[in-house]
Amino acid sequence: MRIAVTGGAGFIGSHTAAALAEAGHYPIVIDDFRNSKPFIIDRLKTLCKGKLSFHEADCNDRDKMAGIFEKEQPEGIIHFAAYKAVGESVRHPLMYYRNNVGSLLTLLELQKHYGIEHFVFSSSCTVYGVPDELPVTESSPVKKAQSPYGFTKQVGEQILFDLQSASTPMRSVILRYFNPIGAHSSALIGELPLGEPENLVPYITQTAAGIRKELTIFGQDYETPDGTAIRDYIHVMDLAEAHVRAIAWLAESEEKASAEVFNLGAGRGSSVKEVVATFEEVSGVKLNYRYGPRRPGDVPAIYANADKARKVLGWAVQRTLSDALRDAWHWQQQIHGLPV
Ligand code: UFG
Repeated sequence: MRIAVTGGAGFIGSHTAAALAEAGHYPIVIDDFRNSKPFIIDRLKTLCKGKLSFHEADCNDRDKMAGIFEKEQPEGIIHFAAYKAVGESVRHPLMYYRNNVGSLLTLLELQKHYGIEHFVFSSSCTVYGVPDELPVTESSPVKKAQSPYGFTKQVGEQILFDLQSASTPMRSVILRYFNPIGAHSSALIGELPLGEPENLVPYITQTAAGIRKELTIFGQDYETPDGTAIRDYIHVMDLAEAHVRAIAWLAESEEKASAEVFNLGAGRGSSVKEVVATFEEVSGVKLNYRYGPRRPGDVPAIYANADKARKVLGWAVQRTLSDALRDAWHWQQQIHGLPV
């Protein structure tokens, strides 16, 4: 199938474009490089053996997006393009609502206009807030959002639920990502934070590479076995392959499947300390770190029950935390010194 991948130069988007091509689909990558770099597209073309097209565009630019859809005739859209930094969203809420909600509305209107049948929406485990029970399932309650970023994901989901209730002729899935890490095994593409990383694994790999002086572990007094916060880390290629399964499932399902929600996690919680220790083990590098206070807005622990994705989509993670950290380290070593 011809699949539009918005934000396809970004971390999850680029790996999904590679997985789509690997599965025989044709990715139509759309990105405006506001949070990514053009060389990723060159690398993707190599990985996909040229079987993809690329358009530089802002998803909020309706006319430009309409032109792309007219030319490319996609049969499905996977919508990654969005801002994703929790702290930044607190400082710039309007920017987040305009971009994240605005681009979703534009895409859904164009989808209706062009009769594009399949839609995949990138959501986040952030919708669960501080969960009452672990692991979280898709029916765990959605809690009041802790940040404008989190609310843009809740609003996005609600828009898709409302379209379902209105019997809009489209099939959609909502994928709630846990913590994607790692890189493509080729080390041609990976996570490329611009400026100082917000997320744990790029901070670890940049510290190990000598770009950052030390990692600060945020909080050592959580009610967890070792006192550090617990997350469900998932290899980005496992996550990417779930999108390929989701598209196949939408195309296969006889009855109208709409706004179906899936958790995408490894189903295993790892503490920050465990991640650091595993990284040291697979890289052979002793990491410089210290403990600091808790980061505002962080939940103590969250991990997924991903049984629904396994049963319905026939998907399961294939890679371990060690695999992901090894791949992230290879990628870091490979880009070190590149002018990015
Ligand atoms: N952490 C550190 N030091 C750092 C960076 C992170 O100790 O320098 C810790 C955090 O406190 C947290 C864990 O590492 O306990 C993971 O933090 P990340 O920033 O990598 O990931 P988050 O779980 O905070 O964020 C992810 C996604 C968000 C999403 C959020 C929902 O990146 O998009 O999950 O919980 F909103």
